[in-house]
Amino acid sequence: MIIVGNFKSYLVRKGDAETVVKAAGKLKTKHKIILAPSFVHLGYISAKKHKVALAAQNLSIFEGGAHTGEVSADVILDSAAEYVIVGHSERRAGGETNSIVATKVCQALGSKLKVVLCVGEAERDSHATYLSFITEEITSALKGVKENDFKNIIIAYEPIWAIGKSASEAITTDDLEEMTLFIKKIVHENYGEKQAKAIKILYGGSVNAENVKSLMVPGLDGFLPGRASASKETLIALIEAIDS
Ligand code: 13P
Repeated sequence: MIIVGNFKSYLVRKGDAETVVKAAGKLKTKHKIILAPSFVHLGYISAKKHKVALAAQNLSIFEGGAHTGEVSADVILDSAAEYVIVGHSERRAGGETNSIVATKVCQALGSKLKVVLCVGEAERDSHATYLSFITEEITSALKGVKENDFKNIIIAYEPIWAIGKSASEAITTDDLEEMTLFIKKIVHENYGEKQAKAIKILYGGSVNAENVKSLMVPGLDGFLPGRASASKETLIALIEAIDS
């Protein structure tokens, strides 16, 4: 499984972020653990020393130059992060459009960063319009992606209604299985079989040690926890629960 821990803005002190990264690095696990601290902490934590992969939580649409406060893909790469989360719903809520997300995906891949592309609907309706919403989020973001780059894309399905809730309010096993297949189908139909095989799919939204086992559905490659990744105890418990 792939576990991408999104620390969001939970950890204030760099030492606390490093404690989680260090604990993850010491785990004897077959799973791929990727941790996403804040930009500032990213520059401080050594991926090499702790033997974990790191991700940024966002990147600039600009390559570099006169853009005050922006953090470009190349700067992220220089901080030893291998991955970047793009299009998280908490950023989309702040005005990030599908077109901005598509630009960020291109910037990231152009700088050889791997992309964790977040998609997810705010609510479900009986007419299933959320399925067209997800289709649009995925196809617009992947429009400019070259065939060879699909292996560098992870799609994280994170329904907004399931983020920041309790374990019992996360998606149901059946619905997650259906969405995993649906996402594969979108990639297959729009880009081809090879691309659908190359792409990885994660689920995020109130995942923790309590519910992770029941969410391990066929076709799903892993999880994108928020809160449960931001302390060494809850992260280790989550990983142990996967193996239990
Ligand atoms: P929670 O695990 O805290 O619900 O957050 C999920 C998420 O948004 C990860 O990116």
